[in-house]
Amino acid sequence: MKIFNSPQVLQQELLEAKKCGKRIGFVPTMGYLHAGHLSLMRIAKDKTDILVASIFVNPMQFGPSEDLESYPRDFKSDEVLCEKEGVDYIFYPNNDDMYPSGYSTYVDELVLSKVLCGAKRPGHFRGVVTVVTKLFNIVLPDVAVFGQKDAQQVRIIQQLVRDLNFPVEVVIGPIVREADGLAMSSRNSHLTKEDRNKALVIYQSLLLAKLLIEDGRDVSSVKSAILEKLGYVTGLSVDYVEIRNYDTLEEAESFESVILIAVAVKVGKVRLIDNIIVWN
Ligand code: PAJ
Repeated sequence: MKIFNSPQVLQQELLEAKKCGKRIGFVPTMGYLHAGHLSLMRIAKDKTDILVASIFVNPMQFGPSEDLESYPRDFKSDEVLCEKEGVDYIFYPNNDDMYPSGYSTYVDELVLSKVLCGAKRPGHFRGVVTVVTKLFNIVLPDVAVFGQKDAQQVRIIQQLVRDLNFPVEVVIGPIVREADGLAMSSRNSHLTKEDRNKALVIYQSLLLAKLLIEDGRDVSSVKSAILEKLGYVTGLSVDYVEIRNYDTLEEAESFESVILIAVAVKVGKVRLIDNIIVWN
């Protein structure tokens, strides 16, 4: 396994590999790796010859009052986990490698990124789309794997790939959960024991939604039931509960198409997101 900081040097190395006919699989991350990230690496490894993982806490996707400074980091442990998963190259740039002084180009998606987390975190998806564009240009992947955990993010990346003609297959990996249902997230490490317990209601409210849909309830009553269940837990504040068409991210009026039910809450200072997709 080799570790690269320089975009140019990694890009050169991967261009050579591509000339030899190697297919490149890519998993972009912000590090502090957990089993969710590792599951994506396995998917990429199965489909390609060379596995590249990036570890970069991208400042451009954090708002001024968000948790950039406190975002968890542990490169030594990430390195060990990557080695175990058979990663061939870790791309581990610093901020100046990615955004040298005088940097002035941004990539923005204008429709899907305006709702859900995009409405709550202005500029977030502009940062994500810009960094993923740069990462695709540096790594030149044939296959890039993203998690369903960030359902809106992966929809926007699919749109980016389609709109800007990236020759990349985007693959979606399922959400990996702890045994008690909490969706794995690097940010979970900031939860106190008590807050972690409170956070369990997130997935429970999504499971309840699923049951109610199977029972024939309509969109507004399912949404109210989720809000009610979340509302029972003190110290948890709801950022949003949304029931949307998974393809367009427009508000759903019924459960007839593929539906995304997405929840964002703050538990203490930690913002957590989770979702389920309902196929009818
Ligand atoms: P990060 O939050 O580190 O997530 C990296 C990838 O892991 C994303 O595709 C995310 O959806 C996936 N992931 C996170 N938790 C998961 C879980 N419990 N199960 C399955 N997959 C999971 O998402 C980002 O970083 C950044 O926005 C990035 C795309 C790297 C751009 O900076």
